[in-house]
Amino acid sequence: HGNSRINEKGHLEIGGCDTADLANKFGTPLFVYDENLIREKSRAYKKAFEKSGFSYQVAYASKAFMSLAMCRLAAEEGLSLDVVSGGELYTALKADFPAERIHFHGNNKTIEEMEMALDAGIGCFVVDNFHELEVLHALGQERGMKVNILLRLTPGVSAHTHEYISTGQEDSKFGFSIHNGQALEAIKQALKMEFYNVLGIHSHIGSQIFETVGFVEAVRKLSDFLLHLRDETGYEIKVLNLGGGFGIRYTEEDTPLTADQYILPVTDEVKKQFETAGYALPEIWIEPGRSIVGDAGTTLYKIGSVKTIPGIRKYVAVDGGMTDNIRPALYQSRYEAMLANRAKDEAEEVVSIAGKCCESGDMLIWDIKLPTVSPGDLLAVSCTGAYGYAMANNYNRIARPAVVFVKDGQAEVVIARETMDDLVKLDRIPTNMLASN
Ligand code: LLP
Repeated sequence: HGNSRINEKGHLEIGGCDTADLANKFGTPLFVYDENLIREKSRAYKKAFEKSGFSYQVAYASKAFMSLAMCRLAAEEGLSLDVVSGGELYTALKADFPAERIHFHGNNKTIEEMEMALDAGIGCFVVDNFHELEVLHALGQERGMKVNILLRLTPGVSAHTHEYISTGQEDSKFGFSIHNGQALEAIKQALKMEFYNVLGIHSHIGSQIFETVGFVEAVRKLSDFLLHLRDETGYEIKVLNLGGGFGIRYTEEDTPLTADQYILPVTDEVKKQFETAGYALPEIWIEPGRSIVGDAGTTLYKIGSVKTIPGIRKYVAVDGGMTDNIRPALYQSRYEAMLANRAKDEAEEVVSIAGKCCESGDMLIWDIKLPTVSPGDLLAVSCTGAYGYAMANNYNRIARPAVVFVKDGQAEVVIARETMDDLVKLDRIPTNMLASN
């Protein structure tokens, strides 16, 4: 997919770069991002909104993969940015991402984080709960500035799909429920607060969703709520943020829609609901993360030990694992892979791909058909661009991989490989132990 192909040497090539050369030059494990594919995905959402006729913002959910380079790319593509922590915000600001296009999420923003965001002049806070509603307002008041906010609501929708991370239901740590009166109460309060500019509402129903029914259902419930809100207060929203959650194809079982197919039925529903009610059409914002970067990322691993248990299983171990991709261990996520250095060889045996961590659960792929592998072969696991590097960790003091962007035959490091020194950089030896040496 994307800008990948198999070259004359029988090697997998991504963005015009031979993956065997990339592995030699940058080492393994290595995250390789097809830069043009990220750009195409970003543009597809924007094009869908152009067709819809709505004013819009496409905010990249940076939790999926965050780095200075990714912020630059998002800025160049005219995306907005969804951040959820001081660290993501700091990264965005370091990359000179336009502050007014940054949206700040999270169910427990600290005072320090809110102050940092206010001082940077970010575009909007997505207020999650009553505590934040009070604290953020006080901070705005201290500064004598009106703070742009959306209120995060839980519409009580479950998106119909076999595997997604659900957040739209009432029993959730996120947001104000529209069913128990808290959403109404929160917006009424916010409208009375002098240092708030209430732009509208937000809802995010889940992740890795393959159908539009959940989004359409959310729009209906939110529309009913908004009409009720208008009756009570006369207030009409200017912004309707429908969150992210658009799925990607990890394996053949996954059946994602195109950007048009995700967006247009939903914008049609907004139009229908709002026009019927004589309600001015809002701007629509979305927050895709996975579907912007997921497909574009491939992880290259070097194959090491191979253990055959006769009649049972062949374990093929790679030089990474749950430290660079925790999703199989955490969510039983499935991935596809190929031998990047022997991409034309016939797949002839079923093996399982193990990571190198001291943990039986550190398996990347169970039962995948590959050519007979040898130590030193290069394994490419596809669709690792979202929540892979972002959730990477240093379990077993394994250094995090490097990340490269490839494009038109050029490869550039965008996150350097962690070094052994990095791993001990923050360690301190207590004085009594220093003395005893
Ligand atoms: N907006 C909000 C408020 C969110 O909570 C999320 C994801 C997104 C947008 C972006 O969703 P996306 O388009 O990427 O599906 N670590 C999990 C995914 C957690 C998603 C958390 N929130 C995974 O690896 O599958």
